[in-house]
Amino acid sequence: MEAILITSPGGAEQLHIGIWETPVPQPHEILVKVAATAVNRADILQREGKYPPPQGASPILGLEMSGEVVATGSAVRKWKQGDLVFGLLPGGGYAEFAVIHEDMALPVPEHFSLTEAAAIPEVFLTAYQALQWLAHLQSGEQVLIHAGASGVGTAAIQLARQLEASQIIVTASASKHQICLDLGADQAIDYKSVDFQEAVLQHTDGQGVDVILDFIAAPYFVKNIQSLRRDGRLVLLASLGGGKIKDFDLRLLLQKRLQVIGSTLRARALDYQIQLTRDFSQFAMPLFSNGRLKPVIDRIFAWHEVREAHRYMESNQNAGKIVLAL
Ligand SMILES: NC(=O)c1ccc[n+]([C@@H]2O[C@H](COP(=O)([O-])OP(=O)(O)OC[C@H]3O[C@@H](n4cnc5c(N)ncnc54)[C@H](OP(=O)(O)O)[C@@H]3O)[C@@H](O)[C@H]2O)c1
Repeated sequence: MEAILITSPGGAEQLHIGIWETPVPQPHEILVKVAATAVNRADILQREGKYPPPQGASPILGLEMSGEVVATGSAVRKWKQGDLVFGLLPGGGYAEFAVIHEDMALPVPEHFSLTEAAAIPEVFLTAYQALQWLAHLQSGEQVLIHAGASGVGTAAIQLARQLEASQIIVTASASKHQICLDLGADQAIDYKSVDFQEAVLQHTDGQGVDVILDFIAAPYFVKNIQSLRRDGRLVLLASLGGGKIKDFDLRLLLQKRLQVIGSTLRARALDYQIQLTRDFSQFAMPLFSNGRLKPVIDRIFAWHEVREAHRYMESNQNAGKIVLAL
């Protein structure tokens, strides 16, 4: 089969379409002819040689896909040839064919295109896991979502709305505010010109928010802690701004009884990911069907334009997902 391969670790110019062995489905796996995949920051790190795939995962990039089932493993009862599915992968999405465990695949909602379906798994499962499983966001609580216009941010805004957050505050570049507000955010902070901590305290009567989703890490850590109210939860999902902090006073955590939770979805055990997919599916699939949740696509590239797609993400221009159509 054809697949997008990496010549050697480095920049986007290292990506090219080459030939790779077609995967063979194990008893509980299905083989999918991939119609679309999507770009993730993890792909960029892996391309640079900084994020090796988990043990046993395909070395090919691609953490999600949509497509048509073309073969099923001997123990699969759930799917048949011709079914349209989408789902989260530990790798292998940037290819003509990919295998996925039968319980990790979800049916493509009726009125969705395959490109729309490919924009769902990574960001919606991550945001759902963060808000529901890790932060235990409760109805009536207030939430701050950093990088609100990112793929994960755009999913998190919509999910926080459905989980009945009383106020959703985001940080984002000013040009991306409208999309966040249209998706359900109540306040958008231009973190480049305004101190987000001051703005959050203003919007919450000086109390702070209950939950923060953060991808920036070190430069935001102290301000995040200051922006949380008592019993608040900070979920840390990436370290785009760096990972090391100096001179942090741990008593700030004690005084407000705060929780700091770190997580990476890709490294989780298969059983955990299956349970998350099941739980997410029960909650979210009816909401995708009735239009309360929607995948947010910034741009669709043809897969032979993968270098441009990676450079586009690296330039921080996107609001929502970057999809690769095969
Ligand atoms: N832990 C997990 O399980 C998990 C799962 C999925 C993704 N992630 C991580 O979550 C992050 C967001 O992913 P995504 O796919 O949603 O990203 P994305 O769509 O590429 O959006 C990232 C956005 O973050 C903003 N940003 C703010 N400060 C930044 C900085 N210092 N460096 C780079 N960008 C900065 C930029 O938007 P503005 O113009 O608004 O600043 C940028 O467009 C990534 O780091 C990804 O690896 C983690």
